[in-house]
Order: sequence, then structure tokens, then C-alpha cells
Amino acid sequence: MSNITFTMIKPDAVSNGHSGKIIDQIIQAGFTIQAMKYVRLSKETAGSFYGIHRERPFFNDLVEFMTSGTIVAAILVKENAVADFRNLIGATDPKKAEPGTIRNLFAKSIEANAMHGSDSDENAANEANFFFSAFERF
Ligand code: RTP
Ligand code: MG
Repeated sequence: MSNITFTMIKPDAVSNGHSGKIIDQIIQAGFTIQAMKYVRLSKETAGSFYGIHRERPFFNDLVEFMTSGTIVAAILVKENAVADFRNLIGATDPKKAEPGTIRNLFAKSIEANAMHGSDSDENAANEANFFFSAFERF
């Protein structure tokens, strides 16, 4: 099992000033940060990142939203990182997210839901490599 996951603080949470609190919650939950940077996604980059959802009805809105402002991209390290991080952020729809999870605390809607978290070890590795070169990771 891999011990990394990839995350983005999405434009809603960055523009609402929640990045600091979210990063603190991630660190307090036992994750260490292997790499982190501010990024403004282009339509091409966002569309490629969420390419698996290309045929879904919400795809164009998702690309529009993810390009609407700055995001914070990061690689996080912890034992069982992928599953533990999905638990920390909570369900996709913040109305269904457990109390105390990041989406429960900071997300406004199923689309503007504050955080991304990889859904498998394979995707975590691919997404980390998509955003970060070797010399940005330590
Ligand atoms: P993510 O990939 O961002 O961590 O989110 P997730 O696994 O919890 O959810 P996923 O099914 O992968 O959906 C990706 C993102 O698309 C937006 N979405 N909008 N309007 C809708 O019904 C809808 N459904 C999904 C959300 O921003 C979701 O996080
Ligand atoms: Mg997903």
C-alpha cells in the first residue's frame, strides 16, 4: 500500500480564507506535507485532471468552478493516506459529510466542496506526478 495522497484546496475554500485552518486540520490529523503550492488551473488542466468525469452532466460546471480561482495543491504522507484523508474530508455532498469533517465545516455545496482527495493509491501517484516535478518533492 502506498502512503501518499494528493489533495487540492478548491477555489471556494481558498477565496473564503479557509486555507490556513484546513492545512492546520490536515497536520493535526497526522499528515505530513511532502509538497505544496498555489496553482491557477487552466480549462485544459482542470479538464484533464477530472477527465474521468468528462461524460457526466456536471463536467462543464466542474471545470468552470475549478478554474474560477486559485487552488492549493499538495502531496500528503501518512500510513493509509488515501482512505484516512477521504475520511478527514467527508462525503462529496457536504450535507452528507460527518460533523467535524473538512467538507462539513467549510463546504457550501456538492460542487463547491472545499477539497479534493485522491480515491485510490494509483490515482494518488498519478495526480501527484501531474502537479509536481521531482525537485518540488522532498
Ligand atoms: P474529488 O474527486 O474532488 O475529491 O471529489 P469526490 O471524489 O468526492 O467526488 P467525484 O465523484 O470524484 O466528483 C468530483 C467533483 O465534481 C463535483 N461534483 N459535482 N453537481 C454534482 O452533482 C457534482 N457531483 C460532483 C464536486 O466538486 C466533486 O468533488
Ligand atoms: Mg473523485
